Amino acid sequence: MITLQESFANEAVIKLPGGSSNFKWLQMLKVILRPIESLEETERRYGDIFTSDLGVFPTQIVISNPQAIQELFTADSQLFESGSGNYVVQPLVGANSLILLDGDRHLQQRKLLMPSFHGERMRTYGQVIREIADQVTSKWVIGKQFTARSYMQEISLQVILRTVFGLQEGKRYQQIKEVLVEMLDTFNTPISAIFLFFKALQRDLGPWTPWGRFIRRRQQLDELLYQEIRERRQQPEANGEDILSLLLSARDENGQPMTDVELRDELMTMLFAGHETTAIALSWALYWVHYVPEVRQKLLQELNSLDIANADPTAITQLPYLNAVCSETLRITPVTFFSFPRVLKQPMNFMGYNLPKGMMISPCIYLTHQRPDIYPEPELFKPERFLERQFSPYEFIPFGGGNRRCLGSAFALFEMKLVLATILSQYSLELLDKVPLKPVRRGIVFAPPGGVRLMVKG
Ligand code: HEM
Repeated sequence: MITLQESFANEAVIKLPGGSSNFKWLQMLKVILRPIESLEETERRYGDIFTSDLGVFPTQIVISNPQAIQELFTADSQLFESGSGNYVVQPLVGANSLILLDGDRHLQQRKLLMPSFHGERMRTYGQVIREIADQVTSKWVIGKQFTARSYMQEISLQVILRTVFGLQEGKRYQQIKEVLVEMLDTFNTPISAIFLFFKALQRDLGPWTPWGRFIRRRQQLDELLYQEIRERRQQPEANGEDILSLLLSARDENGQPMTDVELRDELMTMLFAGHETTAIALSWALYWVHYVPEVRQKLLQELNSLDIANADPTAITQLPYLNAVCSETLRITPVTFFSFPRVLKQPMNFMGYNLPKGMMISPCIYLTHQRPDIYPEPELFKPERFLERQFSPYEFIPFGGGNRRCLGSAFALFEMKLVLATILSQYSLELLDKVPLKPVRRGIVFAPPGGVRLMVKG
């Protein structure tokens, strides 16, 4: 690691820090296995803009300075690529995923998908979300402990399958659920996440090896997705308000529909980007609300002002303290620690430094959200800060920003609020992990260790 001043000295030639490749490997492992310590240590030594050169990853500039983030998010998006920097997720989502696209194709796909996750279309999902939350949590038994993450995952997965795929309960619905969960579980420990980062490890050495198992699960899931796509193409009358229906009816400028592979990649993108992220955010929210009793009390007071079971979903999602609780959860324990990297397509003057073509700039969500000058006492969970002050889109960045800002941000917040309100208004829960929990890596996201153990009180 090195400061940007040392690295660039305001000229176009990069001077990379030295160091043996063994040392870089060790640093790299630390970044993957102990990211918080590694990030905090580097920021303490080098400040809020530094160069990271870990050998295996391309050299990148890590920023947690709001001015730099603003400069990046508001710059002409033609200057950057992001898709090419997201190669790590290609084995999961496929090469046609929005996450991996750049330029005009990226813009086109974003325009096509955006309305499904906003406004009127999104609000129609409100009732479905509450019903799913009710049905999944009805399995909780008084006095018996449960892990929040698995139930939140069940809720968010069902929500995606109904709203994105338009699937109703049935055999295929069950199969997709099971295979997807098993597939994502391949990367559920910090060690197994390493497979995503090193291409050399991605070899199929049989069904009992981690990568071999992953490949087989992916094949199973692909078969299920292709079956669904084929059936829906053959029965256009079965198409409804869901996002698969929308994609099936889309035509490009030459009047051509999306191919099966393109459709599969976009469905996988929604499954991958939308379900585990929201489930983890919800698990953290349940942890924090029960970890700080005053927050729970205040939130219950606010929820009691409405009849949650019958209220209009929009009235629930507009509750100010509920909004503050969700925002503070995403601030203190962001689900992803980095937004996508931006790769320069041409030399650029950035924050006064001349950066060469190919350089990557990565906004660090975790470090930005831990700045004491923006968030006094950043280690404390204080939803009130979101009632007292409005944070700029360069200070509060749980969903990234600019032309790659999370497509599902409004949808994720809508779902988080409805699920939290539904649970808290019906159950009195006790947190069994009443200890400080540090985020641990699950693939490329960061989850509560142990998944947050709770119990329904009698
Ligand atoms: C709490 C839940 C979620 C969090 C914290 C989250 C976070 C993020 C972040 C940080 C990015 C990168 C943005 C950037 O680089 O500027 C992103 C992109 C994306 N997210 Fe989310 N996300 C969440 C839920 C969802 C949901 C529910 C969906 C859809 C069903 C979704 C779909 C996407 C897509 C498609 C992209 C790629 C956008 C593009 O490349 O243009 N996300 N998300």
